[in-house]
Amino acid sequence: MTTGIENQALDLKVPNHVAIIMDGNGRWAQMQGKKRVFGHKNGVESVRSTVTAARKMGVKALTLFAFSSENWLRPEEEVSVLMELFMLVLNREVKRLHKNDIRFRVIGDVSRFSNKLQEKIKAAESLTEHNQGMVLSIAANYGGRWDITHAAKQLAAQVKQGEISVDDITEDSLNRLTSLYDMPDLDLMIRTGGDHRVSNFLLWQVAYAEFYFTDVLWPDFNEAEFTKAIDTFTQRERRFGKTGEQVKQQ
Ligand code: IPE
Ligand code: IPE
Ligand code: MG
Repeated sequence: MTTGIENQALDLKVPNHVAIIMDGNGRWAQMQGKKRVFGHKNGVESVRSTVTAARKMGVKALTLFAFSSENWLRPEEEVSVLMELFMLVLNREVKRLHKNDIRFRVIGDVSRFSNKLQEKIKAAESLTEHNQGMVLSIAANYGGRWDITHAAKQLAAQVKQGEISVDDITEDSLNRLTSLYDMPDLDLMIRTGGDHRVSNFLLWQVAYAEFYFTDVLWPDFNEAEFTKAIDTFTQRERRFGKTGEQVKQQ
């Protein structure tokens, strides 16, 4: 039998895997009469403080939505500034990540990025691949539907080549071919910027994640805001389909 105190300790567990839809950069800049890209530039500091905070708290995996497969639809100038910013941040921050024992990786279809950017990504991934402190995944040209379709295609090819049969297709076998297959299950999905939607982010992985929405615009997000999200998470009762009574008895 468990006591209330034990339950509380269990509930206060830090999430293993947190994902963030970093939204609101454009509005943050426009509210100050500045161009949207000013907001993107200022969002970098929020990324830095969130990564530091997550690492400090003992989060194992942090997945950040930086550029969606639909964001190519934005004005060309904004897209190219975002790409430049991505390069700049990679150049500037990777050493710091490495020093802090953080493994860096990019998820999404990177084939649409310039060769130079793809090389930078590969170099950053291999430099940090043995780090154990935390995994930082940046979702770039990522779409949840792309992720699932990409996995389904690979399964179809395996069936066609006779490597597996249709009956071998299970949730597990499909899961293993999705982007974050080797990360812990997603515990918490945060969205800044006031909108309450998923915008084609981790559609498969979000199955039993807790959602946390805040009106704070991404450039104003920081360690204190991240801590608020984690505190809220620790107070949620996750039932995974069971009853509240069953969960309390565990
Ligand atoms: C999120 O901020 C960053 C990206 C999508 C790249 P937005 O640029 O979407 O900012 P808002 O939502 O227009 O304020
Ligand atoms: C989601 O934000 C994508 C990222 C944060 C990178 P958007 O601003 O693109 O989402 P919508 O268009 O408002 O749904
Ligand atoms: Mg937005």
